[in-house]
Amino acid sequence: MSPAPRLFVLASYMRDVSITVDRFPVPGETRTGDDGLEAPGGKGSNQAIQAARCGASVAIAAAVGDDAAGRAALALWAAEGIDTAGVVTRPGHATGLAVILVDRAGENQIVIAPGANRQLQPADLIPMHRAIAGARLVLAQLETPIASTVAAFSQARASGVTTLLNAAPVMAELPEPLCALTDILVVNELEAAALAGREPDSDPHTVGQRLLARFERVVITLGERGALLFQRGEATLHCPAPAVTVIDSTGAGDAFVGAFATHWAATGDAGAALARGVSAGSLACTTRGAVPVRG
Ligand code: RIB
Repeated sequence: MSPAPRLFVLASYMRDVSITVDRFPVPGETRTGDDGLEAPGGKGSNQAIQAARCGASVAIAAAVGDDAAGRAALALWAAEGIDTAGVVTRPGHATGLAVILVDRAGENQIVIAPGANRQLQPADLIPMHRAIAGARLVLAQLETPIASTVAAFSQARASGVTTLLNAAPVMAELPEPLCALTDILVVNELEAAALAGREPDSDPHTVGQRLLARFERVVITLGERGALLFQRGEATLHCPAPAVTVIDSTGAGDAFVGAFATHWAATGDAGAALARGVSAGSLACTTRGAVPVRG
């Protein structure tokens, strides 16, 4: 890979509390699971860490609480070599929390309490102008306020920097200014169908073509079937996934995004970036937790 590509990430952070169960409970039911796991999470933070581990030079903007979880997040990012100049601490707001259930097939159900993540303001992005303008790619998800993403993407667009939106957790209607500022959209099948106004089990090829009306490039991740890349005026690329033993799919999409973004920024080679993303996503399924913590 060419010299470390610079990425700027709006890095939502959550304290993940995860329990593996034999099956998901139905309403009103209590189930007994395995030992709980408390680990770092948050889609943006997971993606930033994956990008750094793939060789990118990563700077982030994030909001955490003035609490133990917020201090743990700062220590984690520092240990990963991530530039935290854009991290703000918001007293009176708890650091984000995610409650996660994982079943025996490795599928997950996640509920987040965004807390301090909601306090990342557009004004917090103004001092980051130089970091954004100097990046090859700016990356965001939907766990931080849309107005801040629009502010960051506007700065990126004005400087000719590529923008990538991972539209998760998905919302029915993405604001048009955000769509217009997004160069690459990355979503899973459910998110893609929701954004296209289609049924959840719709054919991803049809959905992807539909989304090209609003986005120049669209990636749809397909879990164990790999990922698809749609680009206006070009043939659709499909990268299959290697067979792995799935333990926990939490964070697999984030691993995909971090690796894909890094290799796209470094090489501009869509096919290679897709393959790197699929490999990273598959590997992430083989261990518990969203971010394997280094020992
Ligand atoms: O994508 C997985 C992540 O979603 C978890 O780490 C959880 O924190 C939620 O943000």
